[in-house]
Amino acid sequence: MATIEQAPLDMEKLEAFVFRAVDEVGATLNTALVVMGDRLGLYRALAGAGPLTPSELAERTGTAERYVREWLNAQAAGGYVEYDPESGRYTLPPEQALALTDSESPAYLPGFFQIALGSVIDSPRIADAAQTGEGVGWHQHNHDVFEGCERFFRPGYNANLLDSWLPALDGVVEKLERGANVADVGCGHGSSTILMAKAYPNSTFTGSDYHAGSIETARQRAREAGAENATFEVAPAAGFGGTRYDFVTMFDCLHDMGDPAGAARHVREALAKDGTWMIVEPKAGDRVEENLNPVGRAYYGFSTLLCTPASLSQEVGLALGAQAGEARIRDVVTSGGFTRFRRAAETPFNLVFEARP
Ligand SMILES: C[S@@+](CC[C@H](N)C(=O)[O-])C[C@H]1O[C@@H](n2cnc3c(N)ncnc32)[C@H](O)[C@@H]1O
Repeated sequence: MATIEQAPLDMEKLEAFVFRAVDEVGATLNTALVVMGDRLGLYRALAGAGPLTPSELAERTGTAERYVREWLNAQAAGGYVEYDPESGRYTLPPEQALALTDSESPAYLPGFFQIALGSVIDSPRIADAAQTGEGVGWHQHNHDVFEGCERFFRPGYNANLLDSWLPALDGVVEKLERGANVADVGCGHGSSTILMAKAYPNSTFTGSDYHAGSIETARQRAREAGAENATFEVAPAAGFGGTRYDFVTMFDCLHDMGDPAGAARHVREALAKDGTWMIVEPKAGDRVEENLNPVGRAYYGFSTLLCTPASLSQEVGLALGAQAGEARIRDVVTSGGFTRFRRAAETPFNLVFEARP
């Protein structure tokens, strides 16, 4: 019988790995603490307030001092707030204040933590599914996944969609200004739909998603925003209504679909001859080794807990994963009958593709 020789243990490497894990457990717990600080208004009360004691912060937020003191110490240990031992006061530095409280900033983070926490909360279900190979649908998740997704993606769309992504497409802005017929497929809570609808009042927008709960929220958001040229329907990507669209968009959802090639065929049928399909996908290289970095790590994590099970829960279950990369997206798109495909724009977090018949 062949014996497998064990590599000798490097005790220094072992110790370094254990201490790195300590840091990561702290970071994992901090996901819940950030959501707690966001929900209780702790960051908002600290922002711009100068140094505060735990009891001052508790008083300003209507919370219990003992909890707030412990939360502040965890935040200080993680570098989220600064602690002054002389005065016993805690300060939120301006950079952290911006990233944790300014929902208009592209650096806004609470949604990222909220969707991560929601994903972790549902992870026992994913572990069960991994034993059988069954899927877990997007609609089967908890509220933090839906709302966290909306709050996570919206700052990036606000920062890039109108100023960089749409202008990078051939002739689309001119059409939107004149008045175009647009379908935003897999729109979730509709943040991309509403952003475009407000910017282009001569155009009409139909957001669709297979998840009825998300569409209900999208309708409410559109009413609140006064986006009268945006309507919403519950429909799968392979069956959304309407024809001769000038422009079809998919934001961070093609890889979540069970049958993205079927969706591509339907987009091709629903699109006008000279129409454009814009596909926004998570930034990824084609090869695994290109994605072994912090952004890839977060996306592979979401992909394991959300995207891959979502696709497996649907017919075909292609399970592209959130790190599919350009080559696989191109294959899916061209299999749907599109003859032109190019990368039109990118950010550190997203790839933006233009597909034309
Ligand atoms: C990661 S979320 C992105 C939502 C939204 N586009 C955004 O950027 O905020 C993925 C969305 O795809 C939707 N989805 C998944 N499979 C779908 C399908 N086959 N047809 C339509 N929508 C689908 C989910 O319901 C979910 O709203």
